[in-house]
Amino acid sequence: MSNSSPLRQMARRFLNDAQRERISYCIRPVERPMLRLRTRLVADLDSLARLHGTDKSSSTNGYTRLYETHFASRRPSVRRLLEIGVGGINPGRGYETTEGGQSLRMWRDYFPNAEIVGIDIHAKAVSGPRLRFEQGDQSDPVFLRTLIENYRPFDILIDDGSHIGSDITASFVTLWSAVKPGGMYVIEDLSLAYDAGFEGGPPGTPGTAAALIKAAVDDTLLRSNDPFRPSIAAMHIYGGIAFFEKAK
Ligand SMILES: C[S@@+](CC[C@H](N)C(=O)[O-])C[C@H]1O[C@@H](n2cnc3c(N)ncnc32)[C@H](O)[C@@H]1O
Repeated sequence: MSNSSPLRQMARRFLNDAQRERISYCIRPVERPMLRLRTRLVADLDSLARLHGTDKSSSTNGYTRLYETHFASRRPSVRRLLEIGVGGINPGRGYETTEGGQSLRMWRDYFPNAEIVGIDIHAKAVSGPRLRFEQGDQSDPVFLRTLIENYRPFDILIDDGSHIGSDITASFVTLWSAVKPGGMYVIEDLSLAYDAGFEGGPPGTPGTAAALIKAAVDDTLLRSNDPFRPSIAAMHIYGGIAFFEKAK
């Protein structure tokens, strides 16, 4: 099914994340053997995403196309990637389960020389070669600083956690310093920056993830010398996702 098929568009329009994840869970056994073969032959990111069942794939959010654009040339050189939010939703208990790790396994297979670190507020049973898990809250600076001490530096950092404005800001403020020069910091699901349920609001609302990005735009344009300000070389903003590239 192509990314823009009418079925997929309808699913996006009428079903919530949990319902879409449940459907993709049901069709996975049929899709899986074909994907295994495909990833062995091509190993493109979208096939890996669908094989492991993360919502970054073209079956759901469609971020893999953008990740491929920015990450393909980095595949052999990436040594450490940190992702906030391990996933593994359960119809009754939400994310409060030990399941998850779909995107972590995708990154492990995509970056052959990288250690993949996942963090989550809930205890997740993620283990295996080149996979690490730490439990903690992305808004807790003490937890984040310990993480930095133990794992820095990161070639790539991805925020796919709570999607709450203050959490995204707290993580960015603390973790940006741990991104390698030339590295990338990505924030997903930014349409929620306009949703009150995620501390979002209409354009101009302070404290949202969109406000953080707009401040970064001002910062980048002003080329501030303030050492506490991020040193951003480039920003790539798409529908729902932003990539911050650190200056070398
Ligand atoms: C959308 S899921 C992540 C999906 C996963 N990255 C993937 O692509 O397969 C969001 C995750 O963020 C976690 N989360 C929510 N609030 C958090 C917080 N304050 N700190 C860390 N993780 C949090 C949830 O428990 C959940 O597992």
